[in-house]
Amino acid sequence: GAPVKVNISKIEPGQQMVAEWRGQPVFIVRRTEETLTNLDKLTDTVADPKSEASVQPAYVDPVVRSIKPEVLIVVGLCTHLGCSPSFRPEVAAADLGADWLGGYFCPCHGSKYDMAGRVYKGQPAPLNLPVPPHSYETDSVVIIG
Ligand code: FES
Repeated sequence: GAPVKVNISKIEPGQQMVAEWRGQPVFIVRRTEETLTNLDKLTDTVADPKSEASVQPAYVDPVVRSIKPEVLIVVGLCTHLGCSPSFRPEVAAADLGADWLGGYFCPCHGSKYDMAGRVYKGQPAPLNLPVPPHSYETDSVVIIG
């Protein structure tokens, strides 16, 4: 499939937009400072903290999984059986158990991911949401693919 150009300038902090690339949803999130700080605390809680077994380009940061720290870009298909997880950035921990700080929740079998698309330990999904190849054409235009 051809690369896709997406203007991300309208995404507010804490919000997500969904693009499409090769027939797959791609989630693009503008993360807040607080969210980025929380990611550091989850190293022992997620299954593959540096995505050593998961799909991501070598040029993204291993922990926050992006080129620009605030902008997360992941393929929106659960690594278990391919359902599309829902964006739950501020879910109360009590809602869905344990010490989940929010991120993505897969409605099919309950896998939980953090705000870097990293799957929590002990979930049906084995790997983090893939980070697709991407680059920035300008500050606000990203090319996926
Ligand atoms: Fe997401 Fe099974 S498809 S948990």
